[in-house]
Amino acid sequence: MQNFLEITQLSNDQLHHLLARANDFKHGELGNYHHITAVNMFFENSTRTHHSFEMAQYKLGMNIINFDAAGSSISKGESLYDTVLTMQAIGANIAVIRHPDDCFYQQLETLDIAIVNAGSGAGEHPSQSLLDIMTIQQKFNTLSGLTVAIIGDLSHSRVASSNMKLLNRLNATVLFSGPPEYYDVKFDQYGRYVTIDEALQQADVVMMLRIQLERHQQVMALSPATYLQQYGLTKARYDALKPHAIIMHPAPVNRDVEIASELIESPKSRIVQQMQNGVYARMAILEWIMKGN
Ligand code: CP
Repeated sequence: MQNFLEITQLSNDQLHHLLARANDFKHGELGNYHHITAVNMFFENSTRTHHSFEMAQYKLGMNIINFDAAGSSISKGESLYDTVLTMQAIGANIAVIRHPDDCFYQQLETLDIAIVNAGSGAGEHPSQSLLDIMTIQQKFNTLSGLTVAIIGDLSHSRVASSNMKLLNRLNATVLFSGPPEYYDVKFDQYGRYVTIDEALQQADVVMMLRIQLERHQQVMALSPATYLQQYGLTKARYDALKPHAIIMHPAPVNRDVEIASELIESPKSRIVQQMQNGVYARMAILEWIMKGN
């Protein structure tokens, strides 16, 4: 078994294989991996990623250990490496790990247990990226030629980090917008920074990002209402989108901060569909790992 760490590790063929398998799973295929044990190790909180990996593991017939970080020997100073080594020693085959360190998985490379990155600091969120591409494909079939606007707290977002790389590789045009202090020139290689109204005018897909207060060094200067008016998706901006445009958000959502609350389950929204697709994309990832890619 191999690891699933960064979205750019996938070739285009591998990506299309995973998307095809995710769609098979969406249409009801299940797995029979009763001999496999997966351990879910979340060192940062999670609702969607943790429980959709868990649902994926149930549907694939795996045994599941939900590691309790707060109740573990981490509190006695045990390292991440020694903790994952312990999971390997007791018989787990796959470790699904979320961790605040951007590159936590580098220290685990010598272990035999397969590592799945379920979100690494502000670095990568490859399973979210896969489910996002699946969601866009369900509407447009292809990414090539689409304009995708990624808007909000770009520099703290691992979702944005994974998506901009993949979208650029799949020949989508990427536009960035949001507060300038959350933009980094290193994103220039993947897309162009524009005003929110220019981004929304051109976008086929609008990806709104959560303000990640837990990663901010300074208190946010703008009030929620001011942020929504300056950088958020308001109802007026939604009404001006292209008729076929869709809106996405990885969630959790700060309602009425980056997006007006009434838009979350609106006709153009794919936010709930993203959550559903998360189960199938993660089934495809787990199967891909077990089959040795
Ligand atoms: N989108 C996402 O990663 O959500 P969770 O933090 O709830 O897993």
